Amino acid sequence: MKKTVAGLCAALLIPAFLLASDDNSTEIEQAKKATAAFGGALKSELVEAMRSGGAIAAIDVCHTRADEIAETLSKKTGMNESRVSAKNRNPGNAANDWQLNVLRSFDERRESGEAPGSLTWNETVENAKGEEFRFMKAIPTGGLCLQCHGTAIAPEVSTRLDELYPDDKATGYSEGQIRGAFLVTRQLD
Ligand code: HEC
Repeated sequence: MKKTVAGLCAALLIPAFLLASDDNSTEIEQAKKATAAFGGALKSELVEAMRSGGAIAAIDVCHTRADEIAETLSKKTGMNESRVSAKNRNPGNAANDWQLNVLRSFDERRESGEAPGSLTWNETVENAKGEEFRFMKAIPTGGLCLQCHGTAIAPEVSTRLDELYPDDKATGYSEGQIRGAFLVTRQLD
């Protein structure tokens, strides 16, 4: 079969590399599922904590559970899962240079009319160990998020956030803006 394709390419003068498929559809599907599971688990714990104990209790859930959920899911799926932001609250969630570029491209795509909840990006790069698959999915800011990420945060909420995150950059958002992104990476070899 390969020979036939190569022969056909030669006959048609099409360079064979143009036909080589660089198909990451399986990784993309798995990464989408992984981010949906992460986002779903986080949101349901957040909503439950807000309902039962209000924003202050929910801050503590975000503070302790976000990393735990990411770690459990990463172990389960074999992919590294986390969240990154250009204006991060937790210093561990600061986006690096290539992640900042992706976040900027998400903002541009949103400004040109794409729905922020549907924005994804992926690439595969060579690294010292072989190939690394990278996937990001934008996280839009919803109405619920504004209590802790918006422009009019209640004083007691601000006080608690300042105690836990003295370098907090994650305020001042309005509904529909991109708060950050889910990040999934996976070593392919
Ligand atoms: C009750 C307060 C509260 C609410 C409501 C809230 N967050 Fe957060 N958010 C936090 C805290 C606290 C952190 C830091 C978590 C940590 O330490 O990992 C955080 C971190 C994040 C991060 C990781 C990047 C960073 O800045 O560290 C993202 C993304 C995020 N929140 C998005 C959202 C979205 C989207 C919503 C609405 C669906 C939301 N948050 C609602 C408190 C909140």
